[in-house]
Amino acid sequence: MLKTRGNKLTWLGHAAFKITTASGKVILIDPWIATNPACPAEMKKLERVDTMLITHGHFDHIADAVELGKNFSPQIVAIHETCAWLGSKGVKNASGMNKGGTQKTGEIEATMTHAVHSCGIQDGDKIIYGGEACGYVIRLPGGMTIYHAGDTAVFSDMKLIGELYKPELALLPIGDFYTMGPREAALAIRLLGAMHVIPMHFATFPELTGSPEELKRLTQDISGLEIHALKPGESVE
Ligand code: NI
Ligand code: MN
Repeated sequence: MLKTRGNKLTWLGHAAFKITTASGKVILIDPWIATNPACPAEMKKLERVDTMLITHGHFDHIADAVELGKNFSPQIVAIHETCAWLGSKGVKNASGMNKGGTQKTGEIEATMTHAVHSCGIQDGDKIIYGGEACGYVIRLPGGMTIYHAGDTAVFSDMKLIGELYKPELALLPIGDFYTMGPREAALAIRLLGAMHVIPMHFATFPELTGSPEELKRLTQDISGLEIHALKPGESVE
């Protein structure tokens, strides 16, 4: 059984997650909401955003960051260059960091991890250097530790993430094409040692063919593993 200790995690579709803490604070990861075809219509209007974490600058992770950043003035965590770009668009409170570091922001602590992926930001007809793609280990109030891998291939240093931070819940891309598919994600689960997994970044586009069923099939030998195959809009709490 997953113990979320008062935190509610809602999958908004694709890589976007909303975490509501016991005190009612809202943490948003990878804000692609308004034009995200996977996000249920009734979830598109947000009441508040206190903290926003961004894994990289591709539109399907950052599309609403500027608007939400201006509307709600959240604390924003991203890699240095992406924060500089957000600042150039008039967003305040973007606290750029880098991999291996941890920052406390609001009620959470975020550690930036490696990800094997690119990070250009489409800005009009130009692609701006956005730094590197990353993932996050996030310590939530109550002591729950989760890992959002961002967009990534599997990499052997996921073993270090498991050793160092012991995430109880891993949010892993499984769609293939732009990220790991189920075959790679199954190895990622073994490297991380996480006993709870929420698959993400699949089915949004036709190329993203990986499925939770395939991931379950490839990991059925791992005793105690629970794969929480949410539908967009569903939560664990
Ligand atoms: Ni990407
Ligand atoms: Mn993506």
